[in-house]
Amino acid sequence: HDGPGKGRLPFRPIAPVPATTDALTVPPGYRWSPIVRWGDPLFSTADTFDPTTLTPEVAERLLGYNCDYVDLLEDRRGRDALLVVNHEYTNEGIMFPPATTPQELDRQRRVAMASHGMSVVALQRPRSGRPWTYRVGAPQNRRITATTPCVVDGPAAGSPLLRTVADPAGTTVLGTLNNCAGGTTPWGTVLSGEENFHQYFRTTGATPADRRYGLADRETTRGWEHVDARFDARTPGYENEPHRFGWMVEVDPSDPSAPPVKHTAMGRFKHEGAHVRVGRSGHVAAYMGDDERFDYVYKFVSRDRYRRGDKHRQHNKGLLSAGSLYVARFDGDSPTSEITGTGALPSDGAFDGTGVWLPLVVDGVSQVPGFTTDEVLVHTRLAADAVGATKMDRPEDVEPHPTTGRVYIACTNNSDRGAAGKEGATESNPRHANRDGHVIELTEAGDDVTATTFGWSILLLCGDPATNTTTYFAGFPPEKVSPISCPDNLAFDSAGNLWISTDGQPGVIGYCDGLFKVPLTGRERGRVQQFLAVPAGAETCGPVVRDDDGMVYVAVQHPGEDGSWDAQQSLFPDYVAPGAVGGGRWGGPRPSVVQVWKA
Ligand code: FEO
Ligand code: CA
Ligand code: CA
Ligand code: CA
Repeated sequence: HDGPGKGRLPFRPIAPVPATTDALTVPPGYRWSPIVRWGDPLFSTADTFDPTTLTPEVAERLLGYNCDYVDLLEDRRGRDALLVVNHEYTNEGIMFPPATTPQELDRQRRVAMASHGMSVVALQRPRSGRPWTYRVGAPQNRRITATTPCVVDGPAAGSPLLRTVADPAGTTVLGTLNNCAGGTTPWGTVLSGEENFHQYFRTTGATPADRRYGLADRETTRGWEHVDARFDARTPGYENEPHRFGWMVEVDPSDPSAPPVKHTAMGRFKHEGAHVRVGRSGHVAAYMGDDERFDYVYKFVSRDRYRRGDKHRQHNKGLLSAGSLYVARFDGDSPTSEITGTGALPSDGAFDGTGVWLPLVVDGVSQVPGFTTDEVLVHTRLAADAVGATKMDRPEDVEPHPTTGRVYIACTNNSDRGAAGKEGATESNPRHANRDGHVIELTEAGDDVTATTFGWSILLLCGDPATNTTTYFAGFPPEKVSPISCPDNLAFDSAGNLWISTDGQPGVIGYCDGLFKVPLTGRERGRVQQFLAVPAGAETCGPVVRDDDGMVYVAVQHPGEDGSWDAQQSLFPDYVAPGAVGGGRWGGPRPSVVQVWKA
């Protein structure tokens, strides 16, 4: 099932697509269509989408902006599904015409708040293997925004570090922000990572924790602090508001009335996503990345055991509320003198070694001298610094393979590696000025999700082999792969192949971002093959690969992101003239969830 022309999703790799191409490109024999786009009404066709007059009250009834994590929870017959999608952030400069009055500016800010968060959307189709349509007004449809009440749970719930004048109990937060990637749990809920939450807050910037998280005393780009005082954490009573973001959030798509849950047991950092694996003992591990240059890879291990079967759903929904939190240290096995920063393999022929899951919290108790449990969980980066975790090149998705259990880590890039005053190459991050990123394969000791040690090796050093001599594709001949840069989100197909979506290729190798398949076994191991490319300015998110159903799903995030209202750089996906509003058509770019199927 590994090569082109074989398996249920056979394809010939597409050629890399020049970065200015405003088109979604799929292999010959495949078709695509958007399932749902920014501004599509979820509750009533009477809610019309017109960015020039859009109100927050209507915006929170429409699909949000900048789709990132995607999953489809399908029924057994494959005819009904719930689509769950994150809305990471907004781009006011291309969403709206420039505001001409203070009132208009505030309206746009509130529309932006309503366009953040998540959506749950019911889908239907006549039979499996065919494209879906979404159902306006389905009872399961749901929007979660920057103002939706969320429950805080776990050891730090109610902590003085989480209390505000509006929530003296420290247990209810309004909204979830910068929801980037995620993961779907074995019990059918969706985890959503609050990533770059710092950009929404103005703070005093005076504490080490503020500085470590990028919180500062400066006006924010979105200016929400001008319409809601809690986004200005200098306001008396709201000093802790930024502590209430940066969590993993669990949402139950099957229950529109269940509030999203912020899990303090999983730590607070710039969460990319989380992927859960059930171990032999029944304990579950959630693997997580903190997407910042020189930040860390984490693992949460549940105190309680997973129970199979729908009747145990409520029990399983508590698994991420109590347990242990670890951060990874990667130890290379080659002499440091052989790690030159060029990407040249050391004399043992591999960037590899062993590693330790360093305990931060074990069974709800801090393991870090000088930190209370609350402090470890709220200021997790500071605690991880203190125990000597390994600084990585922006860990994005960290995802266990569904059958082998090996964990794949997408380190998207780190142009600062080896720069003046910054850490240089290490065996697990072996390239200076790592513009293209790499993928690490991690094997838990004894194949046990609760293990505290592991082995690891670098699977891919990404890049365009035509212009970069430091690429590595698990030993596969570089001249036979698709060029790939900036790996971000990961998925697996039913044959166990890894699929990688990218974010940042245009600025590095000059090609549109895309989706790539990589076999992990046999002679084809490391053979990167491009399946699709997204339009100009966009990154590829999701992805979901249902090869047994002949379907692939991706989110097209931020098409035309460098444009402006008057000079849009993408008209994806409708390709109608800018400003053409009405009949559900809108000429500007619309971030969308897209389906690809075999014609
Ligand atoms: Fe939102 Fe790490 O990407
Ligand atoms: Ca080695
Ligand atoms: Ca991402
Ligand atoms: Ca990214």
